[in-house]
Amino acid sequence: MKPAIEGGTPVRKDFLVFGKPVIREADIAEVVDTLRSGWIGHGPKTERFERMFAEYTGAEHAVSVNSCTAAMYLSLGLLNLDQDDEVITSPMTYPSTANVVLHHGAKAVFADICEDSCNIDPDEIFKKITPRTRAILPVHLHGYPADMERILDIADGQNIVVISDAAHATETLCKDRHVGVLGDATCFSFYATKNITTADGGMITTNRADWVERLRLLRMHGVTRNAWNRFQEKGFKFYDTVTPGYKLNLTDLQSAMALHQMERIEESYERRTQVWNEYSKAFSSMKGIEIPSEPVYGRHARHLYPARLVLDYLKIDRDHFLEALKAEGIGAGIHFISLHLHSFYADTFGYKPQDFPVAAKVSERTLSLPISPGLEDIDISDVIKACEKLLTYYAR
Ligand SMILES: Cc1ncc(COP(=O)(O)O)c(C=O)c1O
Repeated sequence: MKPAIEGGTPVRKDFLVFGKPVIREADIAEVVDTLRSGWIGHGPKTERFERMFAEYTGAEHAVSVNSCTAAMYLSLGLLNLDQDDEVITSPMTYPSTANVVLHHGAKAVFADICEDSCNIDPDEIFKKITPRTRAILPVHLHGYPADMERILDIADGQNIVVISDAAHATETLCKDRHVGVLGDATCFSFYATKNITTADGGMITTNRADWVERLRLLRMHGVTRNAWNRFQEKGFKFYDTVTPGYKLNLTDLQSAMALHQMERIEESYERRTQVWNEYSKAFSSMKGIEIPSEPVYGRHARHLYPARLVLDYLKIDRDHFLEALKAEGIGAGIHFISLHLHSFYADTFGYKPQDFPVAAKVSERTLSLPISPGLEDIDISDVIKACEKLLTYYAR
C-alpha cells in the first residue's frame, strides 16, 4: 500500500495527537471551584497536592514548584556549586537537565548510556568521577528506572549528592521502592504531556529534613511567610526576607488540575500498560522495528513508548519515517537527540558524535509512539497499521 506521504490514502482522517492530556469532568470542576473560591495562587489545594504526592511516592516531603526544570535548579542550588564543580548526568535527556547545571556556573559532565534502557551507565559514571564531582543527576528516561542501586553505591561515602530527573517517572519503581525516595532529591514534571499534568508544574520529593525548608524558602522569594499564610483570616502577618529567593511556586489553579488525576493514577497506569503491551505484541513480529526493553528491576512508568527503527532494514531514515507517520495521521515524537549533538553543547564543549557512541546511535533511530490512557482501541490499531504499512513499503 502506498504511504500517504507518497500520495496514498492515510490510515486515519483525524490526526492522532501525540501526548494529548486526559482531562475529565472532575478535573474541570475542581479548577472551576478554585476560580470561584477567590484563592487561585499557592494555597490549600497546592498543599493538598503536595501531601498526596508525598503519600503516593512514600517520600517524607514534597515541595511543589512550577516545573521540573525549577525543581532541578533549586535542588542543585543547595550545593552552592562553583565553576570548577562537576555534575555528572546523561546526555540522553531534555536540555534542561544539563542547562540547570550550567545556570549554576558548574560543569555538566556527560556519561554515556546503556543501550537497552537508554539510562546513564554506572560504569561510565565511575570513569567520570573526579575530586570535583559534587553530584550525579540520573534521568529515569521514558519512565525506565535508572540503576539507582549502583548509582547510590558510587555516590555513597564520597560526599556526592544524587538528585534525579524523574520528569518521566511519576509511577517508576526501582526494585520495589519509588524513585521519589531514592537519593537526596527527586524532581518530577507536570508539563502538558506528562503522566500527571498541571499544564506546567513540578515537584521535589526528599527525605532530607535539612533541605526541605530551604527549598520552600527559595521557591518563594526567600521570604518566611507565603501569601496564603499572610492573607488568610487570621490577619496580615509580617514577613521577612532571609535570603534572595526565586519565584518558582505552583498555584492552586494548577494544583486543582492534578488532584483527581492523582486519585486515578494507577487506573491510568494500567491503561498505559495495556497500550504498551499491544504495541510490543504487534511489533515483536515485524521487521524493521525494535520494541523497548522492560526494566530488569522495578517498574517502568510507561510515560513514553520508545521504539527503535532498524535503519539497515529501511530505505528511509527515522526523520522521514516520522514525517510519513504524520502523513498517515499519527503524531509521534523523538526522546531524545543526545545533548552532545546539539549545537550549543557541540560548539561550546567541542563534542564529537563518537564521544558518546551509544547515545549517538540511539539518537538516530529512536521514535516515540503515542501512549496515553486516553487512547481508544482503534487508535492503537491505527498506530500499528500505520507502522506496518511504512515498514513494509520502505523495506530495502
Ligand atoms: C527528561 C526531562 N527532564 C526535564 C524536563 C523538563 O520538565 P519541565 O518542562 O517540567 O521543566 C523534561 C520535559 O519534558 C524532560 O523530558
